[in-house]
Amino acid sequence: MITHNPHQATLILQRINELASISESPGAITRTFGTDAFIKGRTLVAEWMQQAGLQTHIDNIGNVRGRLQCTVSGAKTLVIASHIDTVLNAGKFDGPLGVLMGLSLIEQVIEQKKTLPFHIELIAFSDEEGCRFHTTFLGSKVVAGNFDNNLLNKQDNTGTTLGDVIQAMGGNAGLLQHDAITAGNWLGYFEIHIEQGPVLYEKDIPVGIVTAIAGQKRIAITFKGEAGHAGTVPMHMRNDALCAAAEFILEAERFAASHMQQVVATIGTLNIPHAASNVIPGEVHCTLDLRSPSHQVLTSCYTYLEQLGAAICQRRNIGFDWQLVQESKPVTCDANMNRLLANAVRQCGYEVINLVSGAGHDAVAVAPVSPVAMLFVRCFKGISHNPLENVELKDLAAAVEVSAAFINLLIQKYNKG
Ligand code: GLV
Ligand code: MN
Ligand code: MN
Repeated sequence: MITHNPHQATLILQRINELASISESPGAITRTFGTDAFIKGRTLVAEWMQQAGLQTHIDNIGNVRGRLQCTVSGAKTLVIASHIDTVLNAGKFDGPLGVLMGLSLIEQVIEQKKTLPFHIELIAFSDEEGCRFHTTFLGSKVVAGNFDNNLLNKQDNTGTTLGDVIQAMGGNAGLLQHDAITAGNWLGYFEIHIEQGPVLYEKDIPVGIVTAIAGQKRIAITFKGEAGHAGTVPMHMRNDALCAAAEFILEAERFAASHMQQVVATIGTLNIPHAASNVIPGEVHCTLDLRSPSHQVLTSCYTYLEQLGAAICQRRNIGFDWQLVQESKPVTCDANMNRLLANAVRQCGYEVINLVSGAGHDAVAVAPVSPVAMLFVRCFKGISHNPLENVELKDLAAAVEVSAAFINLLIQKYNKG
């Protein structure tokens, strides 16, 4: 049995704090893909992996990867991972918690000289949030072998392409496919993550098991009207792009709210080019993030909202452009891995709580090639994507204990053959 060491949670928290001190904007935590802060953060994580004794390297998309090899010939690989990029003005736990918990778990395995029936690879994924290129899971897509090379031409807000950023970070975009773990070599994928929702907090339980991850679609929308003088154009003669966008935004909110628990819709960005207080907005860009655990609900809501936007714009004589920029189907976590995880939760004396994740996770990109499992950790009031994100030390300790028990059960299972 891997035993619980109370100092591990403290060390994990120290490392989370140290990583959080590396940011591209003073006074906030922001580490988006490929920035200097990101590179500094990944160097720190690579040093930690090396110090732990892992065979460590940085792959072509910028993932930090540390391997603990077993001696069994033909053995498969258990991947333990999460991401180290962040949203803008982020909390410190979303992503780093899973990476640094994984590191702690592997340190325990090494310290206790466990005989492993499988390899373990710890991965700090380089881009899960998709904030820079508006497309998610770049790091995990490469490792899962489903990275689409067309993404290399995507541009960030300054016009720099993803291909350029990979090169600037020292990667070779032509070699991305060599960084994949081939489908037959995955034993499984395990990710520990904060819940980012309030269920565990409300129930007063430290950890939960993820049964499924919602599917999502991200859409870039342009409303095209006609710029004009705010003082001279009569109200009935305007083609105000912002008013059309505003009507759409509120209708989308109303629609999603009327499908409670089945779908969520968020307009997360709104941009008025050449905005000025005395100019009627001629053009508006916004993004719609649409999620549901049901593929069918997601698809029908997507179609409804596109038609709704088009109808609003037609009535207002506004151009409407709708581009799907990212989508992933809902993912079901592996029943066998979840059974072991539930046993681990019970062994440690906690109630088994099953949760569906509304947030996206790297597990989504990995699911086509490997069984995936996720453990959620309670966070303060479920707050996330916000500097107020917080996890109590005792909950980190509970998650360490449960994850260690889970790894131990996996080792036992595969040692038995
Ligand atoms: C990632 O945090 C996402 O769910 O958008
Ligand atoms: Mn995350
Ligand atoms: Mn996130």
